[in-house]
Amino acid sequence: MKIAIPKESVDGEFRVAASQDTVKKLTGMGISVAVQKSAGAASEISDEMFREAGAVLTEDFKTTVESADIVLKVLPPSASETETLPKGSCLVCLMNARSDLTAAKAVAKAGVTCFAMEFLPRISRAQNMDVLSSQSNLAGYKAVIEAVSAYKKAVPMMMTAAGMISPAQVLVLGAGVAGLQAIATAKRLGAVVTAFDVRPSVKEQVESLGAKFLETAKIEQTETTGGYAKELDEQSKKNQEEALMAIMPKTDIIITTALIPGKKAPLLITEEMLKNMKSGSIVFDLAAEQGGNCYGTVYGKTKTLHGIKIFGQSNAASELCAAASPLFAKNLYNFVLPMINQEKMTLNINFEDEIYKASCIAKDGQLLIGENK
Ligand code: NAI
Repeated sequence: MKIAIPKESVDGEFRVAASQDTVKKLTGMGISVAVQKSAGAASEISDEMFREAGAVLTEDFKTTVESADIVLKVLPPSASETETLPKGSCLVCLMNARSDLTAAKAVAKAGVTCFAMEFLPRISRAQNMDVLSSQSNLAGYKAVIEAVSAYKKAVPMMMTAAGMISPAQVLVLGAGVAGLQAIATAKRLGAVVTAFDVRPSVKEQVESLGAKFLETAKIEQTETTGGYAKELDEQSKKNQEEALMAIMPKTDIIITTALIPGKKAPLLITEEMLKNMKSGSIVFDLAAEQGGNCYGTVYGKTKTLHGIKIFGQSNAASELCAAASPLFAKNLYNFVLPMINQEKMTLNINFEDEIYKASCIAKDGQLLIGENK
């Protein structure tokens, strides 16, 4: 049994899909683990550390994945990398297949069995495998830190002999994993925090963190049985817009994280709202990759519009790679462990188990993305 961990090749991706701890656990079971040289360098995991954990260090992508049973990655392989994946091997990574099927189609064509971690079902049993959660948590924290460092006033209230500085007013839109961490981080820094989410169950969580829940006129719907948000109807959108419009003039920093699986991110901050904010205010749009929650967001860029600085940075978790990689690695370890028959050292995947059924997007040369994904 061989597990391969290549170095990520996408610009700006600093994470790695293994840690010293996960490699040690796998090699301890008698599994051979190949790690591409310098794969962990950006995450402060040296080749030596991987070697000490029992890994074999390899030169390039091709030699790393050669004859591998399982390949662990953070992001989808490039077209040329896909060509070198062994037929019949299992690839486990984020495939970004909700928005772009190119990589998924190529992997299916290469005869690779592919598990896309973005399709993991939201059930308790899958919590310790959920890379979206572990990475969103860090992204929510990082968004606040970046926004605060660009903000030209202090965040906490300060009483000085020369006068008082009022605390910054922070608004968090979307209070899932990233949003809740953003609320907690902004609170720790001394901001006055207001938050909003369309799922009614979130109000209590927001308030338990010491933030105020933004009250709106009636919002219909809003949660699927899988724990995801649904798109709002027109009247609910209007009600949300009115409540946001009213709070804009007194808001200094906005962190947006609102997503609807499989859909473009909902536009929550309109141009009109930006015009109503104080010049020098900040918007950090964590939904930039899915189209953005804010008018004018440019994915991967920071720009200023009507005096408001809008961050559309793409990969906040990658910038915290030394913390993000061990969490990502542990999630994947928890995911692959039940796939391995440790006595026979063979792959034994239960495709009827909802975790593996829902996340498997390619098998036996077929792309399995259908209505249910
Ligand atoms: P997400 O990243 O899919 O979306 C972010 C948030 O945006 C969600 O809370 C959503 O309700 C909200 N949203 C959507 N449209 C909005 C709008 N128009 N205005 C304001 N907010 C809007 O969500 P995330 O962080 O993955 O969490 C969603 C839920 O799933 C949470 O309750 C989380 O605890 C749960 N979850 C459970 C897991 C498990 O049990 N294995 C794993 C991951 C999340």
